[in-house]
Parts: sequence; C-alpha cells; structure tokens
Amino acid sequence: MSSLVERFAAHFGHSATVYAEAPGRLEVLGNHTDYNQGFVLSCAVSRKTSVALAPASGRICRLKDFRDGSEKTFSLDDIQNALPRDWSNYIRGVIWELRKRSIEVGGFDAGMISDVPLSAGMSSSAALETAFGFAFKEAFGIELPPEEWARVGQGVENHYLGLKTGLLDQFSSIFGRAHSLILSDFRTVEVLKTVPLPDDCMIVVVNSMQKHNLVDSEYNVRRADCESAAAKLAGIYPGVTALRDVSVAQLEAARGDLEDREYRRAAHVVGENDRVMRGCAMLEKGDVAGFGQLLWESHESSRNNFENSAEGLDVLVDASRTLPGCLGARLSGGGFGGISIHLVKKEAVEEYSSRIREVYRKACGVDAEVLCCEAGAGASARTL
Ligand code: GLA
Repeated sequence: MSSLVERFAAHFGHSATVYAEAPGRLEVLGNHTDYNQGFVLSCAVSRKTSVALAPASGRICRLKDFRDGSEKTFSLDDIQNALPRDWSNYIRGVIWELRKRSIEVGGFDAGMISDVPLSAGMSSSAALETAFGFAFKEAFGIELPPEEWARVGQGVENHYLGLKTGLLDQFSSIFGRAHSLILSDFRTVEVLKTVPLPDDCMIVVVNSMQKHNLVDSEYNVRRADCESAAAKLAGIYPGVTALRDVSVAQLEAARGDLEDREYRRAAHVVGENDRVMRGCAMLEKGDVAGFGQLLWESHESSRNNFENSAEGLDVLVDASRTLPGCLGARLSGGGFGGISIHLVKKEAVEEYSSRIREVYRKACGVDAEVLCCEAGAGASARTL
C-alpha cells in the first residue's frame, strides 16, 4: 500500500485520502451457473487491484495506472457512453451505475496498481470496478449493501459494456474469505457457507496465454442458449424459472423436447450445479481425490457440452492427467481461452509447475504463466 500512496503523492503533488483494494477471483467449480441462478464454489485470490484516491474540486477526474504508466482524464459530465478499447470505461461505468441509483461522486485524482493478470479469467475487470467502487464509498460516504456493490460492477459489464455476465466475479471479489472457498447461491445472492481448502493441496493457475475477450466472444450467445433451454423446460415442468430448478433426471427425461445444442448447454449447467453440491460435501468429508475428479468432469462438460474450451486449455487439462501430483483440473471463468486451474499436492507443486510449462511449450510453442494462488480476503477500503 505505502508504495502506491507514495507514487500517488509524487505523481499528483498532493496526498491520497483513501485507499481501497479488491482481489481477483477464481471460479473453482460451477461454470456458467451464476446467471442461471445456480451455485458456484469460488475464492478471492491474494492478487489484487489497489486504488489510492483523493477528491478534487470541480468535475474533472484524473487517473494514473502505475502498472503501465498510462493516464486518463475525463469530466463527470461526459461519461454516458463507453469509449472504444479504453480502460477508464470500468471507472466511468461505475460512476454511471451509481448515478442510475441517484448517487453522485465528485471530481477526484486516483492512482492504481494491480497484479491480477489481464483478460485471463481471474476477473481483472471486476477487481478494478470493485476497487474503485469501494474507494468512492469511502471517499464520498456512499452507503450500499455489499451485494449491491457487486450489482454496480455487474451493471458496468451488462449495461455499459454490453456483456451479459452474472454476479460471480464482483461477488467473489467482495465476499471472498482468506484461506477458504465460498459456496454462493446466485438466486438468493448470498454466501451459503465457507469450505476450507485441503491443507496439503494448492490451486495452481496455468494461463494458456490465449487471451479471452468476453466482449468479442460467444458468452452472450451461450447465455441466450441457456435461457431458451430454461424457457422450454419451464413449459414442461411447472415451477421451473431457471436452469437452477432442473435436476439431471428431469433434463434427461426432456431431452427429446430440446434442440441438441440447447440440451448440451443445459446439461453443462445442470451438471455443474450438481457437481458443486457433491464437491462441497466431498471437501467437507476430506475426499479431495473425489473433488478433483469433479474438476476433470467439469472440463469434459465444457469441452463437449458447453463448447467454451479452447485448444490450449485442452492441452493443459489433458497434461494434468498424466503428470504426478495433480488431483484434478479444468478451465476456469468464462472460457474460450484464459486460465485453467489445477489442484496439486503441495509437495509436487514445484515439479508440476515446471513440467506443465514444458509440455505446453512443446505442444503450443508458448510459455504458459504459472501462478500458485492462495485464497485471499475480499475487498476493503479505508481513510488514510
Ligand atoms: C465470467 C462471468 C461470470 C461467470 C463466468 C462463468 O467470469 O463474468 O459472471 O458467468 O464467466 O462461470
């Protein structure tokens, strides 16, 4: 924190008054279930985006990203439209979403720094939205319930940037707990419980380096497929309002009423909800091997049913089955590139990391980034 605050003072010539930070997140199990009102097992990570901010008089907002040195300036009177390929959209969008809730911020200077990998599937954008939301909360005395702050960030994605994502990313960044996974219910929008990660295992993140760009991807198309499957199933089973309400057996019985594509999309989501619940029970009784198998099953379902995997991700997950020390692996996040997560025995992590990098270089000619992630605490803010 101190180095960001010092860099802020050196750059802007006055002191920051507020510091806020928000972590990236890992979707551990429960892929594309959030917008289907389902369940996800996720965690916040120890990698985060930090913001130092001071209110300024007038309507001008000045931003400095100390990661790459870039700067942005905008007026509070000129934020109604997103700009093409501009990272200030995430901040302008938060202000816009607050304005829709009749909440105004004043002008400000802000500096930021982040070690969340960009466009990889660890929610760098949610970390940015949440860190700024929390900085505004502290600096301008805004009072909203924490789940509403998650909706503010989601609103930036949905309304400002046109990406129909669920609440998972911002919710995990806000509600994450150190050393634990959280089981969240996206119908009631709450954390149902925390689930400890086994002591002798670590989550190793292997970035395929194939950048996923959800805005340009098929994310919205997948969501539409899920919604049309849910609508047909609602016509068959009274009481169904989302894929969350459909059991594996019900889906199988109704298979003939769905187009093949709709069936496979629904099979992924319904299967994921089921795996999340079974996975939590397994972790609670210490069956880590069983939990790992579910990660592999999840990836197969992404590959065959949801078709949100990518060549590099398949190479990484296939390799995970052959290398010693790995209990399970899958793509994590939106998919179509980005990261895979690997549940690895602690004593094997070093060897595993170098061997998977080697396999990937041979197969794809690319150096994969490998990160060992700890489950970290959720977002916070304070006055300096
Ligand atoms: C992205 C979205 C989330 C969620 C995941 C897939 O990260 O932002 O809302 O849908 O994909 O589980």
